[in-house]
Amino acid sequence: MHNDVILRLAADNVEMGDVDRLVNIYWALSSVLVQQVPGDVIEAGCNEGRTSVLLQQVINHFAPDRSLHLYDSFEGLPEPSEHDTFLHRGALAVTVDDLRRTFEQWHLPLPQTHQGWFDQTMPDQLPDRICFGYLDADYYESTLVSLEHIYPRMSPDAILVIDDYCDLTRNPHAFSGFAGPKRACDEFFADKPEEISVLVGVKDLAFGYFRKGR
Ligand SMILES: C[S@@+](CC[C@H](N)C(=O)[O-])C[C@H]1O[C@@H](n2cnc3c(N)ncnc32)[C@H](O)[C@@H]1O
Repeated sequence: MHNDVILRLAADNVEMGDVDRLVNIYWALSSVLVQQVPGDVIEAGCNEGRTSVLLQQVINHFAPDRSLHLYDSFEGLPEPSEHDTFLHRGALAVTVDDLRRTFEQWHLPLPQTHQGWFDQTMPDQLPDRICFGYLDADYYESTLVSLEHIYPRMSPDAILVIDDYCDLTRNPHAFSGFAGPKRACDEFFADKPEEISVLVGVKDLAFGYFRKGR
């Protein structure tokens, strides 16, 4: 796989997929695949798939036996909670056809796509074992419900990357528009052995990640 694919994807997805994000995702996903961590790959909040196509290409290169599962309401964001600080219900809405077109542009088949709100799709439509997840859901409830369902299915050493995990004490340049994801993570991990680390970039990347304990 040629890494310059990241430049093309970033140019296509200026709002949601700059080079900092894609390079960090490339590193995290390729590392679990090379280590042969068992399980499939998921993206919670795939939108029109401009990061999903990178996930698929990394899978195709390093471990083509793994499946990619994509989750989205395809109705945009849900109602914000009191902890959410940006955008509104229905923002970012795209269709499954938009997602399909993205994969067609990259000459890739559409991965398994799970349309609906996370609290309805995740309980019985997640893979039994997950080696990597990209959680990009913008809002507090969406992040919390995803963590509750994804965490128990993660294999030992699996990685979950969480977008909009903004910790200004560790990463002062991080985008601070969405307060919900970090709050959800802080609550969820309060009684877990893992800790969230931050990933940084040259711009305003607000990424957190953790590796599941053994
Ligand atoms: C920032 S976009 C994802 C961008 C995408 N990961 C990318 O890199 O291009 C967030 C997505 O999460 C979806 N979403 C947020 N909360 C959701 C929920 N509770 N159930 C289903 N989809 C949700 C929205 O529909 C939206 O498409």
